[in-house]
Amino acid sequence: MNDPIKLIKPYISFDEVTEDIKEIFNSGQLTKGQHVDKFVAGLKDYSKAEHAFLTTSATTALTMSLKAIGIKEGDRVAVSDFSWPATCNVVEDLGATPIFIDVDRHTYNMCPKDLESKLEDYEGNKLTGVIVVDALGNPSGIMQLKEICIAHGIPLIQDSACAIGSSVDNIKVGAIADLTCYSFHPRKLITTGEGGAILTNNAEYAKWLTVKLAAGASGIKGKGMDFVDYGYNYRLSEIQALMGWIQLLKLDNITAERNAIAREYNALLEPLGFLQQKTDDNVYHNIQSLIFTVPSSISRDALIDYLGAHNIESTLGTYCLSGTTYYLEKYNDPQKNSLWLESNTITLPCYKGVDVNRVVDVIRSFCAL
Ligand SMILES: Cc1ncc(COP(=O)(O)O)c(C=O)c1O
Repeated sequence: MNDPIKLIKPYISFDEVTEDIKEIFNSGQLTKGQHVDKFVAGLKDYSKAEHAFLTTSATTALTMSLKAIGIKEGDRVAVSDFSWPATCNVVEDLGATPIFIDVDRHTYNMCPKDLESKLEDYEGNKLTGVIVVDALGNPSGIMQLKEICIAHGIPLIQDSACAIGSSVDNIKVGAIADLTCYSFHPRKLITTGEGGAILTNNAEYAKWLTVKLAAGASGIKGKGMDFVDYGYNYRLSEIQALMGWIQLLKLDNITAERNAIAREYNALLEPLGFLQQKTDDNVYHNIQSLIFTVPSSISRDALIDYLGAHNIESTLGTYCLSGTTYYLEKYNDPQKNSLWLESNTITLPCYKGVDVNRVVDVIRSFCAL
């Protein structure tokens, strides 16, 4: 049996962090130290956002972003329907109603027309927030969606869980929407094991987040802190921040390398009828996931099994949120394109040194069966 080919490998090795980790242990400063400060400053500098906050995941980042814009029970929040369930779970968790917006079959991103048709319900209740997902790292369409949100006075949260390193018109995701959320899960291009971040240029949101993410503290009272509000702890540790910062320094090389791998796959797979996720001309896609729609002549599920039997990991693109058991039973509002994409897309292995020819040879042999 050939060596296993995984979907992704982390862009960090133990050797790169050994000395700093020893120092962290020796200092006893395991949290709230120089590495957290450096990572936060690095994220701001990289994304050109004025404020950055670390969180334990994109899920907690999204929850805090919804709270920052004031989402509460009974509100209506539009969500891109082709995503990981966290995108709508955070809305549901606050007692608000997720309004599923269908996506484009080529970019996999929220359809502006569908958003416009759902700005208000038949009783005249308006949207109170929008969460736009950069599907699998692709921010195509975000500028048009932002214009719609501005025109209707709706705060826009960009779920860029997958999109760190992507940009539109040379503006990095992180400096486009009112609030942007990153994930540092191991399937992402920067990983801290688990982790996330919120970026914003909005001073009001930043002020609120500063207090809320510090357990409600603001300034000093007597010999201690002044707790002016109630709040939370979603901090990352020094070791996690160190890991994140080291990968951030390499991020542009990582995305360039992934784009080169994507071009290699595309040249070989397009003639077989596979269509790569489309990116608008003004967009730089970090290729967090390398996704194709499969030709109609083959079974996507059988292909995943076949690749697996050849020791090659692959998976579906991502999920149709409105079609998951929970949301389908509760809202019964499945979105057509999103459902189609869930069954017809495949994610292929993409990392430095991946044997593209071996993967494509196995796909070719499957197509010839
Ligand atoms: C689009 C999107 N949003 C949110 C999340 C949740 O990220 P986390 O696992 O960091 O909470 C993910 C995770 O894959 C995601 O893909």
